[in-house]
Amino acid sequence: MHTTLVLGGYGFFGSRICQALASNKAIHLLIGGRDVVQAQTLASKLSLNTDQGIAIDAHAPDLAQRLKALNVDTVIHTAGPFQGQDYSVARSAIGAGANYIDLADGREFVAGIAELDSAARDQGVFVTSGASSLPALSSAVVDRYLSRFSRIESIRHGIGSGARAPGLATMRGVFGYCGKAFSRLQAGRWQTTRGWLDLTCYRFPSPVGARLLGSCDVPDLVLFPHRYPDVHTVVFHAGFASPLGHLFVWCVSQLVRMHLLSSARPLVKPLHTISQWMEPWVSDKGGMFVSLEGVGIDGQPLKLDWHLVAAQNHGPHIPCGASIALAVKLARGDKLPHGAMPCMGLLTVEEYLAALQGFDVREIPA
Ligand SMILES: NC(=O)c1ccc[n+]([C@@H]2O[C@H](COP(=O)([O-])OP(=O)(O)OC[C@H]3O[C@@H](n4cnc5c(N)ncnc54)[C@H](OP(=O)(O)O)[C@@H]3O)[C@@H](O)[C@H]2O)c1
Repeated sequence: MHTTLVLGGYGFFGSRICQALASNKAIHLLIGGRDVVQAQTLASKLSLNTDQGIAIDAHAPDLAQRLKALNVDTVIHTAGPFQGQDYSVARSAIGAGANYIDLADGREFVAGIAELDSAARDQGVFVTSGASSLPALSSAVVDRYLSRFSRIESIRHGIGSGARAPGLATMRGVFGYCGKAFSRLQAGRWQTTRGWLDLTCYRFPSPVGARLLGSCDVPDLVLFPHRYPDVHTVVFHAGFASPLGHLFVWCVSQLVRMHLLSSARPLVKPLHTISQWMEPWVSDKGGMFVSLEGVGIDGQPLKLDWHLVAAQNHGPHIPCGASIALAVKLARGDKLPHGAMPCMGLLTVEEYLAALQGFDVREIPA
C-alpha cells in the first residue's frame, strides 16, 4: 500500500481529490488538515477508517518527522494560497523521503520549485508544483499540438468558471492580485497588465456560451516562454459565471489600480458567502480554452482552438485531474522522474482527462 496524504484534504479541491483516491486499492489515504473533526468526518463519508482523518499543520516545524512517523510515501499539498508561501512543505516531504505534488497557482511558487531539484534527486523522490489546470493541463494541450506547427507564436488560453465557488484558499490567491500589476509576454515584449482588468469577452462552445474574462497572474505566463521559445505572446484570462459578479470584481480591481483600495483580499469572505447564495441562479457550466497560433508544417498560417466544457457544476473536478493521475501512477509504481519541476510534460491530455471519468466534462479537440 502506498500511503498518500492530502494536506487540505477536506478543502474544496482536496475533498474531490480524496473522493477520487479513496477507493484505490493501492493507496492508503490520509486526509489531513488542522481540524481533526472535519478530517475524520470526510474519512467516514468516504468509507475509510476514521483514523485516516488526521490533524496536521502543513507549516508545523516538525512536519518532516510527522510524515516519517506516518510512513507517508506521497504528499499532495492543497493547503494554499501558495502566493507568498515558501517551500517548507516540499522540503519536509523531501526530508521524509516522500514524493510531493502541489496544486499551486502562484507564478513565482511554481516557477521556482526547481530550486529543490538537487535535494529531491539526492533523496530519490518526485517533486512537482502546479499539478492542476495550469500548467499541467494547459501545457499538455500545447504539447499535443506542437507537431502540427513548424513555429508556434502565440498561446492564448483561459477559464470561465461555473456557479460553484471554489474554497477560500483559491479565492484568497486570485483576489490577491486584483488590480495589481504583473508582466506578460505580448507581441515579443514583456508588457504590464493588471489582475482582473483587461476586460474581454470569449465565446465558449455550447452549452457555456459567451463569458466576460479578465487577465490573471498565472505560472504559465513565465513558464511557457521558456518551454516554447518561439512564442511571442502568452496571455491568460479567467472569468466568473455571473456577468454581474465579474463586473463587480472588475470594479474592485479598478479601485485597487487607482489606490482607492489597498487590496481586494478583505472582500474574499463576504464574496465567498454571496457566491454560495447566488449559486442556484448562476450557470452550472464552465469551460477552458487554449488557442494556438503560428505557422503550420506546410508553411501556412495555422490557428487551433481546443476546448473543455463542463456542466452540472462538475468543472471544479478539472483542477484535481493532475494530482489524481500522478498519485495513481506513483501508487502503481510507474516511473516518474526524480527531481523537482513545474508540472509540465508529466501527463498527456488523455491521462489528465481519464482522472475525470464519470463527470460531465467534455473535450472538444482542435
Ligand atoms: N493551479 C491551478 O490551476 C489551480 C486551480 C484551482 C485551485 N488551485 C489551488 O488549490 C488550492 C486549494 O484551494 P481550495 O479551493 O481547495 O481551498 P480551501 O477549500 O480553502 O482548502 C484549503 C484547505 O487547506 C487546509 N489548510 C489550510 N491551512 C492549513 C495548514 N496550515 N495545515 C494543514 N491544512 C491547512 C484548510 O483546512 P483548515 O484551515 O481547517 O486546516 C482547507 O481544508 C488553492 O490554494 C489554489 O491555489 C490551483
